[in-house]
Amino acid sequence: MTIPAPTPADKFTFGLWTVGWQARDTFGDATRAPLDPVEAVNRLAELGAYGVTFHDDDLIPPGSDAAARDAVISRFKAALDATGMKVPMMTTNTFSHPVFKDGALTSNDRDVRRYGIRKVMRNLDLAAELGAHTYVFWGGREGAEVDSAKDLAASLDRYKEGLDFLCSYVKEQGYGIKFAIEPKPNEPRGDIFLPTIGHALAFINELEHSEMVGLNPEVGHEQMAGLNFVHGIAQALWHKKLFHIDLNGQHGPKFDQDLVFGHGDLINAFFLVDLLESSNYDGPRHFDYKPSRTENMDDVWVSAAANMRTYLILREKARAFRADPRVQEALDAARVPESRIPTLAPGETFADLVADVDANFNVEEAGRRGFHYSHLDQIGLEHLLGTA
Ligand code: GCO
Ligand code: MN
Ligand code: MN
Repeated sequence: MTIPAPTPADKFTFGLWTVGWQARDTFGDATRAPLDPVEAVNRLAELGAYGVTFHDDDLIPPGSDAAARDAVISRFKAALDATGMKVPMMTTNTFSHPVFKDGALTSNDRDVRRYGIRKVMRNLDLAAELGAHTYVFWGGREGAEVDSAKDLAASLDRYKEGLDFLCSYVKEQGYGIKFAIEPKPNEPRGDIFLPTIGHALAFINELEHSEMVGLNPEVGHEQMAGLNFVHGIAQALWHKKLFHIDLNGQHGPKFDQDLVFGHGDLINAFFLVDLLESSNYDGPRHFDYKPSRTENMDDVWVSAAANMRTYLILREKARAFRADPRVQEALDAARVPESRIPTLAPGETFADLVADVDANFNVEEAGRRGFHYSHLDQIGLEHLLGTA
C-alpha cells in the first residue's frame, strides 16, 4: 500500500501551542526552548500542512503594547503569505492568567467575566482579519472542584449570556465566523462545564443564535470520559454540528495525554477516519497533540509528520476496507443495510403494525438469529494490521 505525502488539499492544521509546547507540566519544568510562531509556520508548511491555528497569547505575548502587537502580527502575516499557509480557526486563552482561575465567561467574579468577553472580542477582530471562519471555545477553567461553590444554573446562564453576546458581536460586525464549543470532562478544573459532546449539543440548543454554534470535539476528551469518540462524532454530524475537530490519541480514562493521532485507541481512530471520509465534513483535520516531554525539538517535527502520515495511512486502509467484497458480505450478514430501512412502511397505521406483527412475526425464531459481528470486526482488524 503506498501512502501519499500530505498536501494542503488534505487540510491538515496544527495549533501553534502543539508544536510550540515547551513541555512544562505539573511536576516539571520546560524541556524545550520557546518556538518562534514563524518557524512553526515554515516547518509545518514544509511538511505539507494546510494551516495553523492559535490562541491570542500564542502569537502575541501578553502585555504587548499596540506597536509590538502590530509588529508581531505583520511578521506572522508575511510568513503566511510566503508559505500559503491558512488560519482557518482561532481561539482565546482564557485559562493561563491567574485572573481566570475561576473561569472566564462563568467566573463568579463579574468583573472577570466582563474582561473575558473583552479578550475574546479583541481576538475575534484579528480572526476576521486573518480569514478564520471558526472560533473555538474551550472552557478549561469554566468549572469547579467544590459543588457548593457554584450556583450551577446561574453558571449556565452566564455561559449562555456570554456566548449569545459574542454571537451578536460577530453578526453585527459582519464577520463570517462560526463558534465551536470544545467539550472536556475535567483538567484543569476538577469538573468542567459542558463535559461531553452530548452536554454541549443540548446546551447549544438553548442559545439565542444556535445556528452559528457547533462543536469542536477532541478524541482524547471523550475518551477521558470513557466514551466512544466515533459515536460522538456520528451524533455531532447527525445534528449538523461538527464545525471543527481536534485529532489526537489517548489511552482511556486518565489525564489528558494529547498523544499523536492514532497513538492511543487505534481501532477507534481507524473507524473515525472511515466515518469522517465518508461524511460531508470538509473542514480542517486539526491536530491538537502535545509532543512528548521526552522529545527534543528535532523530534517535534517527527511527531508532527506522524500525525498526518497516520491519518493518511488510516484513510487508505478505510478505503480498502470499504472496497473489500468480504466486508460487503459481512455487512449484509450483520444486517447493516437493513438498519437503513424505515421501521414503518409509508402511511402505516398503529392497527397495520399490530396486525402485521401479530400475524407474521415469530419471536422465537427471531431470537435465534445471530448478527455475526465478530467476523466483521476481525476483517476490520486485519485490514488495519495489513493481513486482510
Ligand atoms: C486541552 C484543550 C486545548 C484546546 C485549545 C483550544 O488542552 O485540553 O484541548 O488544547 O483545544 O485550548 O482552545
Ligand atoms: Mn486535550
Ligand atoms: Mn483541543
